Amino acid sequence: MATTFSQPAEHIRLAELWRDPYPTYRYLREHDPVAWVPEAGRYLVTRFEDIMHVERHPETYLSSENPSLMTRSIGETLLRQDGAAHQRLRRAAEAPLRPRMVKEHWLPAFRRNAEDVLGAVVGHGECDLFREVAGPLAARNLADLLGLRGVGDADMQEWSQAIIDAGGNYGEDPEIWARCANAVADLDTAMDEVLPALRRDPDHSVISAMLHAVDPLTEDEIRTNVRVFLGGGLNEPRDSMAAAAYALLTHDDQREDVEAEPALWKRVFEEAVRWVSPIGMYPRRVAERTELGGRVLEPGDKLGVVIASGNRDERVFDRPDAFDIHRAETSHVGFGGGPHFCLGTWVSRAAVGQIGLPLLFRTLSGLRLTETEVPFGGWVFRGPLRLTAAWDV
Ligand code: HEM
Repeated sequence: MATTFSQPAEHIRLAELWRDPYPTYRYLREHDPVAWVPEAGRYLVTRFEDIMHVERHPETYLSSENPSLMTRSIGETLLRQDGAAHQRLRRAAEAPLRPRMVKEHWLPAFRRNAEDVLGAVVGHGECDLFREVAGPLAARNLADLLGLRGVGDADMQEWSQAIIDAGGNYGEDPEIWARCANAVADLDTAMDEVLPALRRDPDHSVISAMLHAVDPLTEDEIRTNVRVFLGGGLNEPRDSMAAAAYALLTHDDQREDVEAEPALWKRVFEEAVRWVSPIGMYPRRVAERTELGGRVLEPGDKLGVVIASGNRDERVFDRPDAFDIHRAETSHVGFGGGPHFCLGTWVSRAAVGQIGLPLLFRTLSGLRLTETEVPFGGWVFRGPLRLTAAWDV
């Protein structure tokens, strides 16, 4: 049976979700789990169980949405395609990101990058960990992974943020569209050098894999798909690292536990991704008449799959708003599920959970926050906006 229309859902404001979405999500999970939110132009799916149902039925809930904010800003990437077309693009890109390749090839690069980034700040005694550590480290790791030789941290971060902002530009801000167009043009210029070099001289990178796959991608396909890697591969490791650092810096007991038992670092990372999911929501489109969470959906209806809410669903997680590395239920939907399950999951676990976070706390001894109110922002993408800290020198 269809749920009755909920007045509060109609009045949900995106600006409020950006500031702090969790009270609204709690309300929606309880009263209107597939809620029509006019400002978002879609139904928000907020319960864990319904999210899993969507992910397990990709024929009914399509990823392709054209035009979508993403196709408008960066073109048709693997993220917004379905079935065989999606699989072809994904297969061409995935080899360098598999667990074995991460272990054998990328771990030393991630370690070197972390040592360099931390080495640049360690003598200062204080900094904004978000801007001076988590951001540049994610940028360097991603430039290596993609094969964007010679592209600096600042460009990587600017392009990534511009693409991310356009992908979440539900408010249609023209400045955000323009900034993304500039980023795409600059990235294309960098690709003019990278593509011929990697064609001649293959390496372990994602762009090289796309060029030399059994079913190789065209240069146009590579240019387009690299944009989604750039958007998705920088902000999320950065935000998860900053959120995890914040969590440990505000939970002394758990910090002591992980410092005493380093095997817990991987728990720290997973719990941070659950607690403040770097990607909070992603879109799907209904292919055929169906019912979800008591709501009848028609072909063409747009959904927002709110994984940030699923990850705090009290039906699954005990004390869901608490950061707790010792929690019993640890599987979450922070990396999505189904055919579009994040291709960067294993590199992120290694780069952030295995290398970045432990090295941060080991290198900056006596690390502590220097402001009590750390600002967080976002609902489509969410993380700390700043993380100023000091340490002993
Ligand atoms: C903490 C880190 C990360 C989180 C939480 C995260 C989260 C996600 C989520 C939720 C999706 C699914 C989106 C959807 O279904 O619409 C996704 C897809 C994807 N992610 Fe990540 N991501 C992270 C890091 C990375 C990194 C480092 C890379 C690149 C090296 C990456 C590349 C991708 C790609 C290419 C897809 C699309 C896969 C496909 O469509 O088949 N991600 N990610």
